[in-house]
Amino acid sequence: MSNIQGNSTAGHAVDESPENPYLLGVHAPVGTEIVADDLEVIGEIPRDLNGVYLRNGPNRRFPAGGRYHWFDGDGMIHALHLENGRARYTNKWVRTAAFDAETAAGRGLWSGVMEDPKGNPFGNGHGLGIKDSSNTDVVFFNGRVLSTWYLCGTPMSLDPLSLRTIGAENFLGTLTGDFMAHPKIDEATGELFWFDYGPNPPYLRYGVVGADGAVAHTTEIDLPAPRLPHDMAITENHAILMDLPLIQDQEARRQGRYRIHFDQGLPSRFAVLPRRGDGTQVRWFEAAPGYIYHVVNAWEEGDAIVMDVCRVKDPQHQPRIGHPLARMLAYLRLDAQLWRYRFDLRTGATQEGPRDDDNTEFPMVDSRVVGRRNQFGYAVHIAREDTLLFDGLVRYDLHTGARQDHRFGPGRWGSEAPFAPRDGGTAEDDGYLVSFVHDERENRSEVVILDAADLAAGPVCRILLPQRVPTGFHSCWVRADQLGQGR
Ligand SMILES: [Fe+2]
Repeated sequence: MSNIQGNSTAGHAVDESPENPYLLGVHAPVGTEIVADDLEVIGEIPRDLNGVYLRNGPNRRFPAGGRYHWFDGDGMIHALHLENGRARYTNKWVRTAAFDAETAAGRGLWSGVMEDPKGNPFGNGHGLGIKDSSNTDVVFFNGRVLSTWYLCGTPMSLDPLSLRTIGAENFLGTLTGDFMAHPKIDEATGELFWFDYGPNPPYLRYGVVGADGAVAHTTEIDLPAPRLPHDMAITENHAILMDLPLIQDQEARRQGRYRIHFDQGLPSRFAVLPRRGDGTQVRWFEAAPGYIYHVVNAWEEGDAIVMDVCRVKDPQHQPRIGHPLARMLAYLRLDAQLWRYRFDLRTGATQEGPRDDDNTEFPMVDSRVVGRRNQFGYAVHIAREDTLLFDGLVRYDLHTGARQDHRFGPGRWGSEAPFAPRDGGTAEDDGYLVSFVHDERENRSEVVILDAADLAAGPVCRILLPQRVPTGFHSCWVRADQLGQGR
């Protein structure tokens, strides 16, 4: 069935701590990097779907001292390359500086986020002594894939087909500081937008990489104290950054611990500034206290900016006491809903409200409409399980409010599923959704491809994989016509 060329790292077995569910079952790391061709297919791979599905996620290589948190795992990219009806699966760890250091040592050298980072070899540019694992997102920019890290680190540049790590991405030597997990890319202008945050002033910096691949603009955004922003948005003329009342506990920090709390006495604040504006041009919009991991999209409508997000329903719903593992599980119990903000640039007023009440997250749109008004958004449906699992995909029609669902089936858990346009297709839903799915009952992973316009019809095809794909974080689709672009 498969032509597997693997280089086994099975000698470096992962920690089998029986009590930590994020080291077990569908979440357990895999220890081998493989390339597999001629995969068995149920149904037929659409000939008009050509490109690469890439997904990042935590996959610890070496056990380390102390408690393991799912977010600690080393970044591993899983990729499915589709070409003329044929599929190839590849997976590879991102060769970060920390990964290389641990590989050279033959053992884990960093403790995780639930432990005191004192004694860790090095951290990010902000002096945060946590391992930059590059495990969070994967985006395509200027001919390469960039893997990123949620606490802000060094973006890593990868070859989109072989997944070989090319090196730290410094944008032609122009990047200073660190880089967030979810940069935004405007495919129409070729620009990339990002921010960098940290525990010391300036707490937030925002920047633009131009179409030539070099940093073209940076500015500081004034915040009252350190914050934990995760995502941002762009429109055709603006960037939107967030100051949300999820706050790092400064007392705990002085004691060398990392603890966050949600302050309901503070508003959510949104910074709107021109794309290449300076920090003094920021207009702040206030809204009810809340937390947002991910933006669906934003756009301009006359004198207003509309932004759809997945908003966490109750950020306070996290026990402060109990076993650290219980705290971790509670923290990972993501409960969010589709939510819309409208910022009136004329009056400074904010309107906000829900667009759905179901628990959906990891939103995706057609990458060609980022920053422009979109009709469709896609998201995963969060399962009611003790660990973070996705039991289906949802398509939102944001014009009509209509919703379509696909459920993966009992014991089957999916991944963030990007929109993959049909070759030559221009309509916003003329294409597919692509997701890794692990079937716990069969103990087998596969890729499921759905018609983005008709999720309810079920899979167009299923591509069976010779190795388990663990649960993970973020993904992207790179069209075949993009693969030759850039460098
Ligand atoms: Fe994220």
